[in-house]
Amino acid sequence: EELSFSEAILRASGSISRFPLIPVRGVPLMCSIANNWDSVWSFCPDPADLLIATYPKAGTTWTQEIVDLLLHNGDAEACKRAPTPVRSPFLEIFSPPPIPSGLDYLKNMDPPRIIKTHLPFQLVPTGFWENKCKVIYVSRNAKDNLVSYFHFDCMNMTQPEPGPWEGYISKFMHGELSWGSWYDHVKGYWAEREKRNILYLFYEDMKEKRNILYLFYEDMKENPRREVERIMRYLDLSVSDEVISRIVELTSFKNMKENPMTNYSCVPPPVFDQSISPFMRKGEVGDWRNHFTPEQSKMFDEDYEKQMKGVNIPFRDLI
Ligand code: A3P
Repeated sequence: EELSFSEAILRASGSISRFPLIPVRGVPLMCSIANNWDSVWSFCPDPADLLIATYPKAGTTWTQEIVDLLLHNGDAEACKRAPTPVRSPFLEIFSPPPIPSGLDYLKNMDPPRIIKTHLPFQLVPTGFWENKCKVIYVSRNAKDNLVSYFHFDCMNMTQPEPGPWEGYISKFMHGELSWGSWYDHVKGYWAEREKRNILYLFYEDMKEKRNILYLFYEDMKENPRREVERIMRYLDLSVSDEVISRIVELTSFKNMKENPMTNYSCVPPPVFDQSISPFMRKGEVGDWRNHFTPEQSKMFDEDYEKQMKGVNIPFRDLI
């Protein structure tokens, strides 16, 4: 199946280009998504489906792999049955034929499906809320997220040109990148989490299992075992300590970088040019320090404070 996925991409690569973004309800999206918006918006999941939502480059692939391994009791071979985007479809992605879209994959899969999205909260199809689907949101500190996105936009030929670094910071701050504002994104899902915390105030179990599981990349780096166990509990699964250890090991940065099913070698150049920057690039916290000048950092911090005013999302490693 890996072959057919890569093969489809190779066949379509003539029509791959860095098209400009088109806003959907004010959120700049790839034009292929904007042009197919009605079919994304009307997608209705099964109550058993899980949504993994992130701003791009916050740790999506890592979380998708952890969840797939948990659902397969740590069976590494089972999780090598296909590359990430085939095992865990990307809800809103539309690519030129013959590449299947996220919705094509979903149509041919049985629930429970692990569905990936980068859509901000307000653009998530309402069926997810009506069907009370579980949602894992993964966030990453703004500066590292920005750095990772910059390198990704250099190598991903379906995204607009990143342009020079300095200007890229400004586009990030102004919400002009694909999938819009990082600030609105992290705040949107956080607000929903806060709302449900109040709703379930007196129901500890509901609070844990029926709310959005809001994770942080920095926590996952700090103590992957703790976070894998957290995901396990949220999904109402119970796997042995030994299996947890195996999952932590299988989803280390090094192992995922070497695993052809997770390292996005399934998306060959000229779509992902990993000679420019590998998909599994660094996998660290604090790489922003190697990119921001002190002046850029100061300007970013001042703006950050304004955009995040009154919101207490516990981001770390930003200063
Ligand atoms: P860097 O560019 O900082 O290295 P996404 O999957 O949302 O696109 O996020 C990609 C980012 O997560 C990249 O960050 C990538 O290296 C990092 N990443 C992927 N798998 C990881 C893992 N197992 N451990 C740590 N970081 C990982």
